[in-house]
Amino acid sequence: MSYQAKFRVWRGDAGEGELVDYTVEVNEGEVVLDIIHRLQATQAPDLAVRWNCKAGKCGSCSAEINGMPRLMCMTRMSTFAEDEVITVTPIRTFPVIRDLVTDVSFNYEKARQIPSFNPGDTKPGEFRMMQQDVQRSQEFRKCIECFLCNNVCHVIRDHEENKPAFAGPRFLMRIAELEMHPADESDRRQIAQDDHGLGFCNITKCCTEVCPEHIKITDNALIPLKERVAGKRYDPLVWLGAKLGIV
Ligand code: SF4
Ligand code: F3S
Ligand code: FES
Repeated sequence: MSYQAKFRVWRGDAGEGELVDYTVEVNEGEVVLDIIHRLQATQAPDLAVRWNCKAGKCGSCSAEINGMPRLMCMTRMSTFAEDEVITVTPIRTFPVIRDLVTDVSFNYEKARQIPSFNPGDTKPGEFRMMQQDVQRSQEFRKCIECFLCNNVCHVIRDHEENKPAFAGPRFLMRIAELEMHPADESDRRQIAQDDHGLGFCNITKCCTEVCPEHIKITDNALIPLKERVAGKRYDPLVWLGAKLGIV
């Protein structure tokens, strides 16, 4: 069964833009990205949209659909009423390049700033990881880098000025993953707090809510990392050691 859906799509570039109304055919089983592609094929050949896998795995097609950060390829048209106007806008936290395409280089810069895995003197094959440690970090490694979590976090969504000091949930989660890794020899607690803005996070959990991989970013990464930082700061032995200059 086909029907005609009303779409309102943001068109423009870094300078200016507006919402433009379109009426587009929808067929059974389709997702929002199918409709955007039909729109490109039939009415707006110059509409810019980033996508790759159409399977929820590349993280490219992030957008805001009726104000909710979503993957366009994983948002079924059947979740909307046939007479509903569906508004599609670019993710808001990063600068627009054109139409639905944003410049997400902020995220790559933050990724580069995190010191990589540090096995110390351990050689490949010398270390055997416990299954529970494997499982803990496996959840974080499901990340498809759609950056919807960074897009929705109010610390940078509403405050451009916080961007230099805050890595966002995706990269604080990366620090947590490395910090929890039993073979990683770096102590990442100080850099999480001082260089990547862990203290900005006030546990609103919006990041967890929008994650298409259902990673429990806040409960399993950010809160445990905060606890480790607090443990380092307030542990009386660490405090005494610091005073004596031995830690
Ligand atoms: Fe996307 Fe989830 Fe990864 Fe954030 S943690 S970038 S929301 S997959
Ligand atoms: Fe932001 Fe997630 Fe913390 S949305 S405030 S990083 S819990
Ligand atoms: Fe790859 Fe949507 S196109 S996640």
